[in-house]
Amino acid sequence: MKIFIDTANIEQIKEAASWGILDGVTTNPTLVAREKRNFVELVKEIHEIVDGPISAEVVSLNAPAMVEEARRLAGIGKNIAVKIPLTCDGLKAVKILSREKIMTNVTLCFSATQGLLAAKAGATFISPFIGRLDDIGHEGMNVVRAIKQIYANYGYKTQIIVASIRHPLHVLEAARAGADIATVPFDVLEKLLKHPLTDIGIDRFLRDWQKLSDKEKNF
Ligand code: E4P
Repeated sequence: MKIFIDTANIEQIKEAASWGILDGVTTNPTLVAREKRNFVELVKEIHEIVDGPISAEVVSLNAPAMVEEARRLAGIGKNIAVKIPLTCDGLKAVKILSREKIMTNVTLCFSATQGLLAAKAGATFISPFIGRLDDIGHEGMNVVRAIKQIYANYGYKTQIIVASIRHPLHVLEAARAGADIATVPFDVLEKLLKHPLTDIGIDRFLRDWQKLSDKEKNF
């Protein structure tokens, strides 16, 4: 499973990229607004750091304006995936953009039938928002499993990005469900890595190592 980071924060992106596990970045208008910077300059900077798909979202609501915005965003670089909301106009825009070979990430997906329509329109990526579904008492991961099954049934190439991830179990379940990608906030990435028994184990090994003489330690 590929791992994207779900942030527009340059320090977090650089840090995650330095771990050697980062395959891409997703942003959205809320994440960009937190950075208080020019949107295009921010996306350009992210594009220079990460050699994988970088999602940047349109804010227009009608198809012609979405397509226009998408073309400008795609002009930033070859790895830009334009995020388009899962509406009727969004589908129309995705169809046009897929013919132009512009990558799209269809966002705000909350049902498997929405996921089916996005694939039919030619989406490169589909982003089911599992955390927001869990928040309202649904089991978000069921949508991921259903979309996975539908895409397998009909051979759709659209890649599933599990989005709106809140904790490590979401990442674990995404991987078990066979999702193509999980987009993970930085704090959750850190939680995936950390285990107290690893830290305790290192301490114990180093303490025991110190029991050796200098001659015994030499290698
Ligand atoms: C994904 O592309 C979105 O940016 C993100 O996962 C939304 O998550 P949230 O529900 O935490 O805002």
